[in-house]
Amino acid sequence: MKIAIIYASVTGNTKMVAESIKESLKKENIIYFDPVTKDNIDADLFVVGSWTNRGTATNEIINFLKQLENKKIAFFGTAGYGGSEEYYQTLFNRVKENISSSNLLLGYFYCQGKMPLGVRERYINMIKANPADANLLVSLENFDEALTHPDDKDLENAKNWIKEIIKKGGF
Ligand SMILES: Cc1cc2nc3c(=O)[nH]c(=O)nc-3n(C[C@H](O)[C@H](O)[C@H](O)COP(=O)(O)O)c2cc1C
Repeated sequence: MKIAIIYASVTGNTKMVAESIKESLKKENIIYFDPVTKDNIDADLFVVGSWTNRGTATNEIINFLKQLENKKIAFFGTAGYGGSEEYYQTLFNRVKENISSSNLLLGYFYCQGKMPLGVRERYINMIKANPADANLLVSLENFDEALTHPDDKDLENAKNWIKEIIKKGGF
C-alpha cells in the first residue's frame, strides 16, 4: 500500500504530529512526506494534516483535499483551543465539507498546539483594557494550557490513531 503524508505547518506543531505518524508507519510504504507541493500523487492512502486557521484547515490543504477523488483519507490537525472532543469534531466537520463523497474517510485526529507568544501579549493588553471580561481570562488560561502541546502523550495518541486506521482499514 502506498501512503502519502501531506501536511501544512507554520510553527512546527503539525509537523511534529506528522513526523510521529511517519515514524509509526515506518514499516509501510510511504511514498510522499511533505507539505503540499504537488497534486497527482499516486497513493492508496492520504494522511492529510493541517494547523487550524480561523476555524478550519489552511487554504492549501483545503484545495488539496478538494481535488481528491476515490481515495482513502485520514485527517489530522492541531488547534490552539483544545481539550474538547466536541470542538475537534466541529473543526473536522468544517474540513469534511471539502472532501468529495467519492472518497472513503477513515477517521480524524486532533490535538492542541501552542500558539505564538505575541497572542498572549495581546490577551494581556485586552485584559488590562477590559478587566471584567471573563472570556479573555479563559482565553489566557487556554493559551497557557496549550504551551506544552503537542506533548509526548499527544504524539503517542497520534501514532496509535494511525496504527488503528491501518488495522481497521484492512490494508
Ligand atoms: C492566524 C492564526 C489563526 C488561528 N486560528 C485558530 C482557530 O481558529 N482555532 C484554533 O483552535 N486555533 C487557531 N490557531 C492556533 C493554531 O492552529 C495552533 O497553534 C497550531 O497548532 C499551529 O500549528 P503549526 O505549529 O503546525 O503551524 C490560529 C493560529 C494563528 C497563527
